[in-house]
Amino acid sequence: MAKKPATSRSKRLGVWLFGAYGGLATTVVVGARAIAKGLSEPRGLTTETDVAKGISWRPLDSLVFGGHEIRESDYPTAAAEIHSKTGSLPPELLRKLKRDLATQSKNVVRGVLPNAGATIEGLAGAVKRRKDTLRRQIAQIQRDIKAFQKKHRLDRVVCVNLTSTEPTLRLSAAHKTLAAFERALDKDNQKAVRPSALYAYAAGSLGLPFIHFTPSNSALTPAIEELFAANNAPFMGCDGKTGETLVKSALAPMFKYRDLRVLSWQGYNILGDRDGHVLADSENKKSKVDSKDALLQSILGYPLHTHVGIDYVPSLHDLKTAWDFVHFEGFLGFKMALQFIWQGCDAILAAPLILDLVRFADLAASRGESGSMPHLACFFKQPLGVKEQDLHGQWQLLSDYLDRVRAG
Ligand SMILES: NC(=O)c1ccc[n+]([C@@H]2O[C@H](COP(=O)([O-])OP(=O)(O)OC[C@H]3O[C@@H](n4cnc5c(N)ncnc54)[C@H](O)[C@@H]3O)[C@@H](O)[C@H]2O)c1
Repeated sequence: MAKKPATSRSKRLGVWLFGAYGGLATTVVVGARAIAKGLSEPRGLTTETDVAKGISWRPLDSLVFGGHEIRESDYPTAAAEIHSKTGSLPPELLRKLKRDLATQSKNVVRGVLPNAGATIEGLAGAVKRRKDTLRRQIAQIQRDIKAFQKKHRLDRVVCVNLTSTEPTLRLSAAHKTLAAFERALDKDNQKAVRPSALYAYAAGSLGLPFIHFTPSNSALTPAIEELFAANNAPFMGCDGKTGETLVKSALAPMFKYRDLRVLSWQGYNILGDRDGHVLADSENKKSKVDSKDALLQSILGYPLHTHVGIDYVPSLHDLKTAWDFVHFEGFLGFKMALQFIWQGCDAILAAPLILDLVRFADLAASRGESGSMPHLACFFKQPLGVKEQDLHGQWQLLSDYLDRVRAG
């Protein structure tokens, strides 16, 4: 029997997942229930390691999941589908969790779709909801979350955006201030507002903590950040750092420390899950490539040749492969190379981060903190409000924060 995770506070915490039946969200729910029931170790959770000792983390068995989704499914179906493709969610485990998963599925309701004719490549099977004004869509999202909180008597709800990557939105004056954004909502300017922004706005105006795990740039604009600050709610994003970029941010500082000058860093990613299909669309891919590309120059401090390729290979499903070639120059100008191959299961890498981020957001809210959470930079490719991209520097931010929490 696996060891039970840390427990100390007793009340129930709601976790509202936008994109509730996606590969990542489903793995989060299966994993949280498996750990809560002692069927699996809490492997991969920073909040279960020594750095996080002595802090009153929310017990994983107190988490209640719900969310918005645009595809018809339920957790047993979504989890079985994941298993048939990647083998990452064992049928034995899913059998033991069957009732749990069916119960959590009852909390998932229909989400909002992109408007103004925008479609997300790869979501042809999406079930359409009646087109509505932006204001009415926000009101519906808020009603859904409030009903969930009331029904389960949750003392807090943390919202997490795990929807498909959206095409990059051209930001305008409407995204700069809250007043301008609210005018866009009042005028029902559908071109300026994507579903991620509606979800973020709905959470922010309810004063709920919000984690933006996707690279979509429409969600945490300056206007919406202002809303969270005004409502004393913490938030953090963007785009979870789980694979090739995580390795890059750990390795690039080594070249810096030894003054090995990096000349070129070429990275190729191949993946095949629904996210991979969505990213096969060039507009959606731009959000992701932009978020992966900025990191090296920021760590090394000089311009270099970089390339990030992302290709969709359906048979790989969620098993992503990244091959990186690093060409660098050493003593006497001699050129050498480092190559690495990273083979990870995307959702398995990301799911424990979501549980950590939920706990951190809950902790921040319980301490009355609001606005962005810079100490969580190590979890993101584009950490909001944090210039530090070096994983070691980001880790220090986290560890310093936890020392402050312990010191009271
Ligand atoms: N390692 C990782 O898994 C990882 C790392 C960083 C970022 N991300 C990001 O997390 C997100 C989720 O990844 P995934 O692998 O679970 O993708 P996925 O395609 O399996 O899941 C996305 C889910 O969102 C749903 N959805 C799309 N638009 C929606 C809307 N408007 N409202 C409600 N639901 C909507 C889809 O139907 C789908 O079920 C992606 O944006 C991805 O880029 C994932």
